[in-house]
Amino acid sequence: MKVIAFNGSARKNGNTAILIKEVFSELDAEGIETEMIQLAGKKIRGCIACGKCFDNQNRRCAIDNDFANECIEKMLEADGIILGSPTYFADVTTETKALIDRAGFVSRANSFMFKRKIGAAVVAVRRAGAIHVFDSINHFFLISQMIVPGSSYWNIGIGRAIGEVEQDEEGLETMRTLGRNMAWLLKKTQE
Ligand SMILES: Cc1cc2nc3c(=O)[nH]c(=O)nc-3n(C[C@H](O)[C@H](O)[C@H](O)COP(=O)(O)O)c2cc1C
Repeated sequence: MKVIAFNGSARKNGNTAILIKEVFSELDAEGIETEMIQLAGKKIRGCIACGKCFDNQNRRCAIDNDFANECIEKMLEADGIILGSPTYFADVTTETKALIDRAGFVSRANSFMFKRKIGAAVVAVRRAGAIHVFDSINHFFLISQMIVPGSSYWNIGIGRAIGEVEQDEEGLETMRTLGRNMAWLLKKTQE
């Protein structure tokens, strides 16, 4: 079993990465393989609405000159998908949104190829807007026929400078609980 996480932050080792690693700590303890993919510095453009993914039905985006298809392949291989994003102007980062639109459309064009995989959002925030980010990511999972486990609070960690999120003990605990619930659900759905 494998969980792939995408860190949509511009800061590879920032607060979002720290929160994802906290989820990973519980998945690792349950023997579930984990991998984090950084979107920072990668070229990934938005969907151009060409609709070719519906013609080709080859589980790939027709734009084949950026990072999206590598991410889509990784999503397909995994049993669980984490999309992590910091809050940028009360929304997901541009890179995260590009991945959602590209992967989401390819999934729909290919008989909902992420169907029944487990999905979880992870959000870093300085002060406000994180719920909207959390919702945006969950919209992608839910419309893709994926299964979304809960935690003891919404999956949000608070901090501004790199590492500040480590002071948010409730946020970290929310991530660990999410990791345990993901592991439980992954095992149930693989039975
Ligand atoms: C362009 C930009 C926009 C931001 N917008 C918000 C915002 O709307 N609300 C907020 O609370 N924090 C906002 N922040 C702060 C980040 O969400 C916060 O620093 C977060 O911890 C960054 O996570 P990271 O270290 O993974 O990049 C913004 C930061 C940047 C760079």
